[in-house]
Amino acid sequence: MKTRLTELLGVEHPIMLAGMGGVSYSSLVAAVSNAGGYGCLGASTMSRDTLIEEIAATRARTTRPFGVDLLTAFPDSLVEHVELAIEGGASTFVAGLGVPSQIVELCHQNGVLVVSLCGKVDHALRARDAGCDLVVAQGTEAGGHTGLVATLPLVPLIVDALAGEIPVVAAGGIFDGRGLAASLALGADGVWVGTRFIATFEARTLPGYHDRILEAREDATVISRAFTGKTMRVLSNDTTARYEADPSLLHPFPDQLFTSMREGTFHLGGDGFTSGVDFRREGYPAGQAVGGVEEILPAAQIIQRMVDDASEIIARLAQL
Ligand SMILES: Cc1cc2nc3c(=O)[nH]c(=O)nc-3n(C[C@H](O)[C@H](O)[C@H](O)COP(=O)(O)O)c2cc1C
Repeated sequence: MKTRLTELLGVEHPIMLAGMGGVSYSSLVAAVSNAGGYGCLGASTMSRDTLIEEIAATRARTTRPFGVDLLTAFPDSLVEHVELAIEGGASTFVAGLGVPSQIVELCHQNGVLVVSLCGKVDHALRARDAGCDLVVAQGTEAGGHTGLVATLPLVPLIVDALAGEIPVVAAGGIFDGRGLAASLALGADGVWVGTRFIATFEARTLPGYHDRILEAREDATVISRAFTGKTMRVLSNDTTARYEADPSLLHPFPDQLFTSMREGTFHLGGDGFTSGVDFRREGYPAGQAVGGVEEILPAAQIIQRMVDDASEIIARLAQL
């Protein structure tokens, strides 16, 4: 399955692992890259030392390309962390939450591609204007920080707006070969998958995370500011209900994140300190795709199944 994305990234399959903070660490990143996809480290919650270690551990486990995902919402450490990603040998820098204008030139000077997550057409146009090399069109179905527009309209709208200038990768609610085939049909060059990869043996998780993902139905998530102060899709629980009942308790980003950490309701990304995780109160980011996640699998198996099923679907449709 060759697309502009596989060409640009130098990979076999048009499947990217979302750089999920607290989840996409070296084991999962390397497993995805070794399986012919494109692994991305979720570095948004990593300290400087952890980032250095995780990049080194990724390189020790794979010789294939991989990326590093950071949030532009933490501008103080952004340039330094991007420099570490470049030195460590990442081939892309991915920016969640905002167009990373300030580091595009630095990345390009070092041969690193720049990717921006976009929830609206305007974001995608700003990313293109800033010099980004590809955009991820992330629909509201997605786990983690997310916008309001659904994947089905968002992807073709961004594809049309960019008119082929740079590749578009679809995200939000994609968990199998049907999602991959549908994304290609919408004009995307590949997919960016988060939630499905949480339920892998290689993912870094929290106590209770896998169990909750496996039991959750498609309506078990809610968009809430409860854990960071920004709109984030998570599994609904007592904490999301409390803030929904009284939004005046909320602080703006990032103060709400510090509040959650202090109150012991958000451990994702912490350096292994997970005692006191209570699933009724804990922030577990997840997308609506949870409804389709029924077993923990090796990441390579998820990728192979997606590619096989999508190829079969595309061949079947071609007969119509
Ligand atoms: C646990 C979790 C953590 C995430 N952390 C980040 C992050 O740190 N940076 C980022 O750009 N996106 C983050 N996201 C969003 C993903 O990059 C991606 O857009 C989303 O998972 C795709 O939708 P899906 O979950 O339906 O596959 C996160 C998502 C999840 C589920």
